[in-house]
Amino acid sequence: MEILNDAASGNDRLICTCHGVCAGEARKAIQEGAATVKACFRALGRWPKCGNCVVPLRDLLAEAQDAKTRVEEDTRVGWTREV
Ligand code: FES
Repeated sequence: MEILNDAASGNDRLICTCHGVCAGEARKAIQEGAATVKACFRALGRWPKCGNCVVPLRDLLAEAQDAKTRVEEDTRVGWTREV
């Protein structure tokens, strides 16, 4: 899945105001293997300050996990699609 930086994708939405991290940056970190909030911060080279971004990061992780699960289910029944 390609990370798009347009308003429709929501990737330009600021999720960490302390460090200026947008959703697209976090999604990229998740795509590249970050599977936890801590791993996302580590991949982004940052560390939580106030913690207000933990919930939006968890939402992005859940979104990625849901997409992965859908692909796995489709693959199991012989369907393929891009997410
Ligand atoms: S909003 Fe991310 S550490 Fe404060």
